Amino acid sequence: MESKLTELLEWLHQHPETGLEEHETTEKLRQVLQTHGVEVLDSGLPTGLIAVIRGERGDGRIIGLRADIDALPVQEDTGLSYASLNAGKMHACGHDFHAASVMGAALMLHERRGEWGGTVKVVFQPAEEIDAGGRLVMETGLVDDCELFLAGHTYAGFEAGVMGIKEGPVMAAIDRFSVTVTGKGCHAAHPHKGIDPIPALSAMVQSVQSIVSRSMDPFAPGLVSVTHLEAGNTWNVIPETAFMEGTVRTLDAQDRQLAEKRFREIIAGTAAAYGVTAGIDWHHGSPAVVNDPALCVLARKVAQRCGITPAVQENTLGAEDFSLYGQGRPALFVRVGTGGQWPAHHPRFTVDPAALYPTAVFFAEMALACLRGEA
Ligand code: NI
Repeated sequence: MESKLTELLEWLHQHPETGLEEHETTEKLRQVLQTHGVEVLDSGLPTGLIAVIRGERGDGRIIGLRADIDALPVQEDTGLSYASLNAGKMHACGHDFHAASVMGAALMLHERRGEWGGTVKVVFQPAEEIDAGGRLVMETGLVDDCELFLAGHTYAGFEAGVMGIKEGPVMAAIDRFSVTVTGKGCHAAHPHKGIDPIPALSAMVQSVQSIVSRSMDPFAPGLVSVTHLEAGNTWNVIPETAFMEGTVRTLDAQDRQLAEKRFREIIAGTAAAYGVTAGIDWHHGSPAVVNDPALCVLARKVAQRCGITPAVQENTLGAEDFSLYGQGRPALFVRVGTGGQWPAHHPRFTVDPAALYPTAVFFAEMALACLRGEA
């Protein structure tokens, strides 16, 4: 099993495909599942797939296990013998590791299906990086009946053999905004004949920072990042419009609502003060990833049984559409120590293959413990 999984990891690493283009990846995963006699559901997903394993000891709980499978538009610079064969694409976030370890768990659960009752649905999700795949999986309706969901992510901050497990919110809700301010264009020498949108936009960029510093609880993690500005195209014309966009990240659902409310108030108030109009486009992305306390307690026990050392994982205001699987049901998202010198999304990002087999065993044992009703 161990060599089979290493082979799969290397194959996936050599064949990275970005979101919604994971055709070869999907075919490879389907082949491995079918070679071992694991049923693949007819999901209608454009890429990615959902497999199902039914225990032979009768009905029981239905639980979900999820791996994402997409790569990034990054040119690999690791020097690995199994480096990417697809120019400009790389598994720089370790989703190849996720797919291979969850495949390992699926094959182990399938091999041992005579020992347990219930059902495990295994999701190989496309397009996590572009915040699209989780929603597509939800829309299939095939995971509606799962009572709980398990997943993990590689983490360079821990060595192989260490796993971050933490109760409560661990990754942020991700919202995106854009604001278009409209004034009245005119000659730069006659500002009184127009309404300059640039001072208004500048005031907005400054003022929205007060959401985190003045409106939110100082102990609550959150941020507002304005990342893109546009206005005008030359030095002697006051433009008609000015534009900004960026992102708001929060861990707490109430803070998420508060941040949006304050944002809208600040933009509207500033627009009124400067005599411009402001249109806001607000996009609600994935909610926060929130770990179920009982699953965390169980995960620590199971990790130790598998020879993995549990550690406390740090919160991040990065986002993950795994949060969608945790809406209305308990979920667990662990940080799998995979070592390496470089962080995720870096051209030299690597995972330590030594973490692969133990992670597969962890997910299989965790699924079995959940099927037995231990959490
Ligand atoms: Ni990732």
